[in-house]
Amino acid sequence: MADLRRFDVFADFVVARFGAERIWDIAGGQGRLNAALTARGRPTTTFDLRWKRLPNLNYQQRLLTLDEACNCDLLVGMHPDGATSIIVQYAARHAIPFAVVPCCADNGMAYKPWLRHLQGLAIELGMTVSCADLPMQGRSRVVVGMPAAVSL
Ligand SMILES: C[S@@+](CC[C@H](N)C(=O)[O-])C[C@H]1O[C@@H](n2cnc3c(N)ncnc32)[C@H](O)[C@@H]1O
Repeated sequence: MADLRRFDVFADFVVARFGAERIWDIAGGQGRLNAALTARGRPTTTFDLRWKRLPNLNYQQRLLTLDEACNCDLLVGMHPDGATSIIVQYAARHAIPFAVVPCCADNGMAYKPWLRHLQGLAIELGMTVSCADLPMQGRSRVVVGMPAAVSL
């Protein structure tokens, strides 16, 4: 059973770490991370397929693909499973940061190799990567990617 605190502890992390005003919560399920971020003054839009979800949220009932037009400053994902690689690729393509808390791999990898794979993918796509641990049970490692600094 995943830790029910995960949405609040990740929202606290995101607010402390990023100043982004337009956040996309990818694979947000019922929208609990969205609600936690919105309660902290960070307007968020969730992408997922759930018709049964929390009320009064900005929610796009579809999967994120690399073809989605970019209208955000930050991508976040809590246990986003099949969306995890897409988050990394999308953020790199649009030169915006991401923060993901990986869980299951989309390619059959075990957890630790999956974490290394995601970090390598972000670096390969030109991003700077760091990690942190959230104060929660279960899969709690956050992988953060920052776009390369724009040279003037
Ligand atoms: C394990 S659930 C996690 C849901 C929620 N973040 C949580 O922690 O309870 C994984 C979710 O990823 C969603 N998902 C997978 N690929 C996606 C994509 N490309 N775009 C949006 N959501 C996606 C699935 O529909 C599912 O709801």
